[in-house]
Amino acid sequence: MEIELELNGVERTVEASKSDSLLDVLRRNGYTGAKRGCDTGACGFCTVHVDGEPVKSCVEPVTKVQGASVETIEGLGTQDDLHPVQQAFVENTALQCGFCIPGMIMRSTALLEANPAPTEQEVREALSDNLCRCTGYKKIVEAVLDAAEQMDDGTAVAADGGRALDSDDGATTEVECSRTDCGCTEGEK
Ligand code: FES
Ligand code: FES
Repeated sequence: MEIELELNGVERTVEASKSDSLLDVLRRNGYTGAKRGCDTGACGFCTVHVDGEPVKSCVEPVTKVQGASVETIEGLGTQDDLHPVQQAFVENTALQCGFCIPGMIMRSTALLEANPAPTEQEVREALSDNLCRCTGYKKIVEAVLDAAEQMDDGTAVAADGGRALDSDDGATTEVECSRTDCGCTEGEK
């Protein structure tokens, strides 16, 4: 049978059998960013977006995505132009083996679209369906919180949580001399 879908913004028609999962079809067509871990819906390694919602593609019958919009990690960013969430994972070294990371990033981008300023607890809850066997989750959670800050205000907040670059705290400003006859500046505040 043929499945028509929008895949990473491009209209596609793909061949599938009725028993195929979405993950089967994606990987057969070269979209190998979504990983096959448990194949039973337990690990989240295969998470993609279907009509903007995070979905475990290993347990999603491909027949259910007929006419849907599917986004995989390949549609997010490129090596030269990473999505802010991908960039935050890199900057926070939020990975070890990396096998869970595509699913983590797809789950995280869906979270930040729905809730651009999540609390740490909300990040942990949102990622609770996605397992990682390497990192202990701490750096992953930090990366998502960092991405939320970066996406919220562009560039103002330093990646290490330091003072905003556009803050005027400590800035020096010249003030005019109280005398009128010399034209100098008398100091800084
Ligand atoms: S491979 Fe899909 S949830 Fe584990
Ligand atoms: S980084 Fe290895 S499973 Fe998450």
